[in-house]
Amino acid sequence: MLSLEVLQQVSARLERDLRRGLGRHSHHRAAVQMLPTFVTATPDGTEKGDFLALDLGGTNFRVLRVRVLEEEQRMVKMDSQICAIPQDMMEGPGEKLFDHIAACLGEFLKSQNLQGKILPLGFTFSFPCHQKEIDKVSHTHSNDPVSVFCLTFCLCVCGEQSILIRWTKGFQCSGVEGHDVVQLLREAIQRQGDYDVGSIAMVNDTVGTMMSCGYRDQSCEIGMIIGTGTNACYMEEMKNVKRVDCTQGRMCINTEWGGFGDNGSLADIQTEFDVQVDKTSINPGVHTFEKMISGMYLGEIVRLILVKMTKDGLLFKGQASEALLSPGGFETKYISHIEEELSGLENGNKILSNLGLAWEPVDVRVVRMVCDTVSSRSARLCAAALATLVNRMRVARGLERLKTTVGVDGSVYRKHPNFSAELQATVRQLAPKCDVSYLLSEDGSGKGAAMVTAVALRLARESRLLDDSDGEDSDDEEQ
Ligand code: BGC
Repeated sequence: MLSLEVLQQVSARLERDLRRGLGRHSHHRAAVQMLPTFVTATPDGTEKGDFLALDLGGTNFRVLRVRVLEEEQRMVKMDSQICAIPQDMMEGPGEKLFDHIAACLGEFLKSQNLQGKILPLGFTFSFPCHQKEIDKVSHTHSNDPVSVFCLTFCLCVCGEQSILIRWTKGFQCSGVEGHDVVQLLREAIQRQGDYDVGSIAMVNDTVGTMMSCGYRDQSCEIGMIIGTGTNACYMEEMKNVKRVDCTQGRMCINTEWGGFGDNGSLADIQTEFDVQVDKTSINPGVHTFEKMISGMYLGEIVRLILVKMTKDGLLFKGQASEALLSPGGFETKYISHIEEELSGLENGNKILSNLGLAWEPVDVRVVRMVCDTVSSRSARLCAAALATLVNRMRVARGLERLKTTVGVDGSVYRKHPNFSAELQATVRQLAPKCDVSYLLSEDGSGKGAAMVTAVALRLARESRLLDDSDGEDSDDEEQ
């Protein structure tokens, strides 16, 4: 249980780490990576066009076709397809993973009769990547509006280079870390050989969420995910992004706050259960904050507490079951099921019976308390992190009060019965000078990737209009 004072300390530590991550010389060693995304504009409602979007971040991946209609200021999902990613593929060679993605995309295009069409592709890739602003863009696709946009606005949302820093959330494919993910996708598409795509814009899911919510509410300047993993992005003043040589305007920063604590700064609030979860994960020592918060780990934290209490003779008359003793035996979704009961403990009874435990009513009540404690800690830690961002934005903009909207997605935030209310109440306490609204993303990050591409094309169009007014000929602005 974390008091408000402790949360304030956590927030102060995060603020220090955010600054370190933004620094020109300190970012190499920063636990919170603060990755520049080169996205400097959010939607203004005049975007338009037809796009493909890929969304990879969990055990499934999705292909979507999205149409952005300027007249109606609407983003329409035309069609989509979900492809499962088998567990062995999540830990096998990267080439196989990308071949699978490219094959699913090919099938989708075939089913939509789109094989001959070359559409721009937004790729939501929910892992930490260095997005590089590179001159390669200028000679590879110099006639491509997205690249023109990159050059004109010193952006690279077209993601010519997006180097995977590390896998998280159970992925561990070989040959991808340190490599350009967009390149790997292009090569896999070429290996398929029967279709092609246009510019590829790679975005993190937080950025996709901010952009798709930003289309509905133009004051949306933060994207937050609390699902299998956790992370947030926000619009930072360009002058504070010391790693980029631009001083005007704002840039979206992918904080990768999941890495908070990787330098030991959260050691005093980590419990023996957090330490154990980290040790037995496939990526020990990294993403400390994420492991205290997100859906991939919450169930396991609860399980470890229940095992200890059972061993101490405090639960189930000291008798654990095989399922309770097996890693992963207590799923995160059980926490929501147990906590969603207003009266009675039916769900809890069923879950404990299915786990092969001989329970008495008092056991079920204790298990519920454990679930409450673990999920509430998660919500409050997330609130401390979000409050750090909004407080920082308010001060950086020299405002008395900040009014802003957070686009949110993720199964924990969506499905847990009390999570969002507790998070919002704690943010109000920790950021009293900020009025924060929350917008659940509709069909989330995939659409947002299409929106990033759409904004890029809009800016490219606008820059061409400027060129036109200088008397230059413009060719077909729609590509
Ligand atoms: C990844 C982030 C991602 C988050 C939410 C984390 O594990 O590092 O890039 O945004 O999960 O999906």
